Formats: sequence, C-alpha cells, structure tokens
Amino acid sequence: MTLALTILGIESSCDDTAAAILHARGVAPAILASVVAAQTDLHAAYGGVVPEIAARAHAEKLDLVVEQALAVADMTLSQIDAIAVTAGPGLIGGVLSGVMAAKGLAMGLGKPLVGVNHLAGHALTPVLTDGLAFPYLMLLVSGGHCQFLRVDGADAFTRLGGTIDDAPGEAFDKVARLLGLSQPGGPAVEAAALAGDPARFDLPRPLLDRPGCDLSFSGLKTAVLRARDQLIAAQGGVSEQDRADLCAGFQAAVADILALKSARALAGQPGLTGFAVAGGVAANRVLRARLMAVAADARLPFVAPPLALCTDNAAMIAFAGLLALQAGRIDDLTLSARPRWPLDRDATPLIGSGKKGAKA
Ligand code: KG4
Ligand code: ZN
Repeated sequence: MTLALTILGIESSCDDTAAAILHARGVAPAILASVVAAQTDLHAAYGGVVPEIAARAHAEKLDLVVEQALAVADMTLSQIDAIAVTAGPGLIGGVLSGVMAAKGLAMGLGKPLVGVNHLAGHALTPVLTDGLAFPYLMLLVSGGHCQFLRVDGADAFTRLGGTIDDAPGEAFDKVARLLGLSQPGGPAVEAAALAGDPARFDLPRPLLDRPGCDLSFSGLKTAVLRARDQLIAAQGGVSEQDRADLCAGFQAAVADILALKSARALAGQPGLTGFAVAGGVAANRVLRARLMAVAADARLPFVAPPLALCTDNAAMIAFAGLLALQAGRIDDLTLSARPRWPLDRDATPLIGSGKKGAKA
C-alpha cells in the first residue's frame, strides 16, 4: 500500500444497504466505520428477496447509512478521497440505486469514483482482514453465491467450479422453511441439528461422482422434502426428533459436498498460500470444522474473516475499490450497473440463478 487514501464504500446489490469508510496509509488499511442496514423484515412475508421492495429500500436508506458511517468515523464528506461502489453483479434495481448515489457524491465532491465487482469484494476480504498473500483459494458460500475461486491478484480470478443450481444458503433457507423453522434458515437448521442423528436419513451427495469442482444442492433439498412427506404420510406429522435428524442429515451432506470439492480444488492448485472462506454459510460450525480439516490436510492456513466481514458489507467494497485505484483504475459518470458480471471472464456461465438474482 503506497497511496494514503480515505475511501467511502457503498454496497446495495442484494438485501443489505451498507456504507463503510476505509483508511489506507502504507500499512494494513483500517476500517474506520462499517454500517449495514439489513432489509430482512421487509422481505420476511414473501419467503425471499423481492427486487422492487429491495430497490426502493436501498434508495431510501443509502443517504442514511453514509451519514451513519461518517458519524462513526467522526469525519465529514470533505475528508473522503474517493468513492467505491458495487456496480454488479446483483439485483439491478439495488445496484442502480447504489451507483446513482455514488455518482452523485463523486460529482458533488469532485472526487474519483470506482465501480467494484461485489464478488471481488468478498474474494479479496482475506487480504484486508488477515493480510493473506496471493495466490489463495477462496470458497464463497452464501445465500446467493457458491463458487471456488483461485485468486492470483486484485483483478486475477479463476473460477474452478460453482453451483449449477441453488447456493447452499438458499438450500439451508428452503430446508428450514419446509420443516417449519425460522428464517434465515442456516442458524435455525444448525441449532436444530445439534440434537439430531446425521446418519438416520440416507440423503444424497449430488455431483460427488462427477470430476471437477462444480456443486449441486437442489437434489439434496428435494430429498429432504421427500423424507418429510414420507414421515407425514406414515405418522401424520414430523416430530421434534425427526426434524433434528433431518437437519443434522442435511447439514452433514452439505458439509461432505463442500469438504470433498474443496479438497479436490486445493489438490489441483499447487503454490497456494491458504484456503479462505466467505459468505454467511461459512458461519456454520460443522462446515467450518470440516473445511479447517481439509486445509490442515493440504498443509495450508485456513482463513475465515470475522462474520461481519464474511457477509455482505461495504468495507470489502471500499477495499476492492482501493486496490483498483492503486492499480490505476478509475471510472467516470458513464459507470453502469451490471446484473451479471463474472469475475473470471473466461469461465463459462453457471446455470444457477437463485433467490438473490443472477449470479456471475
Ligand atoms: O452472505 P450472506 O449474509 O448473504 C448473502 O447471501 O449474500 O448469507 C446469508 C445466508 C443465508 O442463506 C443464511 O441462511 C446462511 O447464509 N447462513 C447459514 C448460517 N448462518 C447464515 N447457513 C448455515 N449455517 C449457519 N450458521
Ligand atoms: Zn454477497
């Protein structure tokens, strides 16, 4: 880091409106503020994110989160040197709200603007939090994303594989819904699984027999639905124990799939400095333990950023923006919002789209 810069980051690609302020001075950058306003309550009744509601809420909240971030950092807008904003991929209305807000600020302040790829924000977070050096393997596992990325630099990503249907968080959420558990489903399923027997139900591990690092979770989710329906047909309902066993079985299957594919991804990539994870699903303790063991087997450090920086936030956008600016990249007012924006420009598009909109 050579350039001393204070960057305002803005994120609005899904259902979190976020602003952050990052200060870089030659050493590791400091996060002066990171504010996230979640929209969970607004979408709760619909069982998923409603793009129109999300876009409107972002437009209403963006000014507020920027103001809050400035207050937390005890700064004024005039002290901001540059503005970084998520320009995709994501729900177009939300991304557009953020890009428009960022353009307005950049124009009003006469400061540089840089558009950031949301996935690059996630993928570069281990550099911000742990100073991890390139190249490393990143597993992104959230409600909207699931992919293995080899990260060779701030703008050098190779996608080694990804989900061909649902993202794992999406599958956790659906399993919770079909078992009558609360949303977000991941923490609810993890809690219920504590009292469960992961071996009682014979659930599938899709795509394990296929070479490569692509993943699939939709068949697993359907198998849980079928097991539930069989219980209802046989005994008229699902007991507490049935629910715990189904949750434990589902969670074990997800962990098996991700662990095996992670080991395969690591084995094919010599010279890595570490194995990093990001995304809300990385909070799962059973999964974390399995991935940690996979990293240990490969004799690599395992890096899991703090949860607040694993899930959607604007500090990661400010950091990716900082690296882009340091590499000489700058955008002007023609910057456009992109619903799809693959990090690896050479990779074929993934089939999955998921509840959180189009994926790269
Ligand atoms: O990264 P994130 O906050 O948002 C995006 O999807 O971008 O991830 C949210 C997802 C939800 O699907 C949620 O159910 C899942 O992460 N999640 C978990 C856990 N905590 C959150 N999944 C499994 N186990 C958990 N403990
Ligand atoms: Zn995300």
